[in-house]
Amino acid sequence: MGVAIETARLIIATPEAGRAQGALEFVRRNAAHLKPWSPPAPDGIDTLDHWLGVVETAQQALSAGTAVRLWLSPHDDAARVIGSIGYSQIHRGVFCNATLGYQIDAQCEGSGLMREALSASNAYMFGEQKLHRIAANYRPENVRSGRLLQRLGFTIEGYAKDYLFIDGAWRDHILTSKVNPAFEVSWIAGAAPRTVTPSAR
Ligand SMILES: CC(C)(COP(=O)(O)OP(=O)(O)OC[C@H]1O[C@@H](n2cnc3c(N)ncnc32)[C@H](O)[C@@H]1OP(=O)(O)O)[C@@H](O)C(=O)NCCC(=O)NCCS
Repeated sequence: MGVAIETARLIIATPEAGRAQGALEFVRRNAAHLKPWSPPAPDGIDTLDHWLGVVETAQQALSAGTAVRLWLSPHDDAARVIGSIGYSQIHRGVFCNATLGYQIDAQCEGSGLMREALSASNAYMFGEQKLHRIAANYRPENVRSGRLLQRLGFTIEGYAKDYLFIDGAWRDHILTSKVNPAFEVSWIAGAAPRTVTPSAR
């Protein structure tokens, strides 16, 4: 079973084969827009096969609980992909943390769509996936991304030198996170204090 979240303007859902062509067209349309903020493109990114593979990997990762990947579509055209959100490196136990990434179509920038999407998907990750913390890191030059995270309630935690290999070089990043105010300690497996019964002699 995939994730499907509906907001006022968007359908935010787990990748599926019927939208793979839409994802391919999204990266083709946005190559220049995404380049300054993206890791090296994997081989085959410009083929439908690659995006069908992404669909399969995303569904497996959702089942395994290791990542939640979501594609954004407008209500009136569910096959058109206009953005994506990924919660990766999900750790449970005493961390209950994910790392967030996101991108919106250049044509849709400045309309509050990513804020709308992330408000809903973060609520899902806190409420349904039961995370305690979402980490999000951005290049200091990425003013739009910093503004978006601030509006969503992320707080700055630090500055990491040469943090990620982005757009052909190691790039500094500002580290931020948002913590789940409604996290319940019982969500941590084995959180209850263990009682030890002394053995009878
Ligand atoms: C980072 C990114 C998602 C930000 O997108 P965005 O459209 O600026 O973000 P928001 O959804 O918060 O939209 C905010 C803008 O919409 C405007 N807006 C218009 N209608 C709005 C509405 N109904 N509600 C909220 N904001 C609205 C706001 O005023 C604001 O505009 P401004 O920044 O010119 O002041 C986008 O720039 C992007 O995809 N960049 C490339 C990939 C990338 O950098 N990813 C992140 C790597 S860390």
